[in-house]
This record gives sequence, structure tokens and C-alpha cells, in this order.
Amino acid sequence: MEPRLEANLINWNSRVRVHVDSRFYDVEGWLLSAPGPQAREIEALGLLKGKTLVHLQCHFGMDTLRWARAGAIVTGLDFSPAAIDEATSLAERAGLSERTSFVCANVYDASQALSGKRFDVVYVSLGSLCWLPDVATWGGVVADLLAPGGRLYLHDVHPFTSCFDDDGERVIYGYFEEPNNPFIFDSTSTYTDGEELSATRTYEWSHSIGEIVAALIGQGLVLDSLIEHDWTLFHQFPWLRENASGLFVVPEDRPRIPLSFTVLAHVPSRD
Ligand SMILES: C[S@@+](CC[C@H](N)C(=O)[O-])C[C@H]1O[C@@H](n2cnc3c(N)ncnc32)[C@H](O)[C@@H]1O
Repeated sequence: MEPRLEANLINWNSRVRVHVDSRFYDVEGWLLSAPGPQAREIEALGLLKGKTLVHLQCHFGMDTLRWARAGAIVTGLDFSPAAIDEATSLAERAGLSERTSFVCANVYDASQALSGKRFDVVYVSLGSLCWLPDVATWGGVVADLLAPGGRLYLHDVHPFTSCFDDDGERVIYGYFEEPNNPFIFDSTSTYTDGEELSATRTYEWSHSIGEIVAALIGQGLVLDSLIEHDWTLFHQFPWLRENASGLFVVPEDRPRIPLSFTVLAHVPSRD
């Protein structure tokens, strides 16, 4: 693995315990409430009962397991062994092991790690693409994992938000960044509450919406929809307000900027 991904892996391994223990993820509450997929996800994909779904960069499996609970046969993939261990144990605790497998691999090696298997759905959730230096190659990974007629669901942080300073007050970075010029961060904190991290260095990349869409259509996927949202799922900037649905939104007295986005795409079926 290239050194920048190696550093990210060490950082992610150090985040897993902190995240599992955090109020942000609230694992015990999640086990009790036993949630299925989000309503917006079901609206986009249906319930996927009996369908196969691979979740790329699944972290410790909470989003993955929601789909198993809805009846899908799910595979979660992440490069962090600590995350995969926690995901496997969470599947057991949730009673969902039968419909679930978790695989430890770099996303760029996913097809090989999954023995060339193809899926009905590739699912990618918030906080994923910024960890990947090359989004065009990622598009090829998605295409290789989809069965004919298979669909991609991608919901991620909007790349425009990475142009801002930490307070979200000023645009200080370009929207169009070079692949060899990642953001380099040294931070003892993560996006959840909890203890300080033991490994602080990360490398992150911003990919424009145009690059992400081009990565998919360049691999023969058909774009079904691209929606930019004025909400996100975490307190990315101090001035965001949490609404009654638990979404973080731009307050009315501020300019509405995009905070996250969703792409739906599919591979044409053979007939
Ligand atoms: C913010 S988390 C994703 C959270 C996710 N939305 C969820 O289900 O909770 C990002 C994940 O990407 C993983 N990751 C980062 N780079 C990766 C890579 N090159 N290959 C595989 N996983 C990677 C990290 O280990 C981490 O679990």
C-alpha cells in the first residue's frame, strides 16, 4: 500500500475503538432500536430483500447491517482490521451474521478480495471518497463489482465543503485540487466524541462533483440522478443547526451551500 494510505490506515485503526465507544455512534442504543436503512435510501433502492449489496469503506458496519436487517445479503469491505473485527462482532450481537460477511481489503483491491463476485448494489455512505487519491480508478472498482443491471448508491460529503476553513467561514482552498496535493492533517480528534487518537496524521483528497460523475460514466455506468443536499449527517461546521430529524442544516440567516450529495447510477443489463 502506498505510504499515504498506510498512514490513513493507522489513523483509522486508532479511531475504531473511540468510535465504537462514542455517544455519536451509540452502539448500545442502535442495538436496542434495531434500525433498518434510512427512508431516503429505501426510496432510492427499495428494500433489497434477497439482493446482494456490497458496502465499500463500511467502517464498523452500522450502515451495512441496516441493509442486512431489511433482508439484503450484505458484504462490508474496509481496509481497517480493527473496523472489520468490530463489524463482525456487531453482526453477531445484532443476530445478523447469517446474511452478512465482512472483508478486510483496500478498496482498490476490492474485486480481487471478493474473488470477482458481482453484486446487485454497490453502496457507499458518508465520509468515503475523501480517503481515496484516485477517483477515476475507484469508478473502475465500482463497475467491476456490479452485476449487469446492478446499481450504485453513493451519499457523501459535498466536495465544496472542503474549500472552507475549519469554522466554515472562509473559502481558503481550491475546489479543483491536484491528486498529488492532498490535504495533510495532524489531529488528535475525530468527528465523534471520545478519547484522543493515538495516530494523528491523515491524507485526504477532494474530488469535484464533475470528476466523480466522470469516473462513473467513463466506466459505462448510466447516471440516474445527482442531488446536492443542504444537509449533512454530522456537525461539520460550528454554525450548522441540528433539525428535528437529526440532520445538520444551514440556518436561515446564512447562504445555502451544498453539504452532501447523492448519486444513483446503474450498469445496463445485458438484454
Ligand atoms: C468515515 S468512515 C465511513 C463511515 C461510514 N459512512 C459508516 O458506515 O459508518 C471511512 C472508512 O473508510 C475506510 N477507508 C479509508 N480508506 C480506505 C481504503 N483505501 N480502502 C478501504 N477502506 C478505506 C476507513 O477505514 C473508514 O472505516
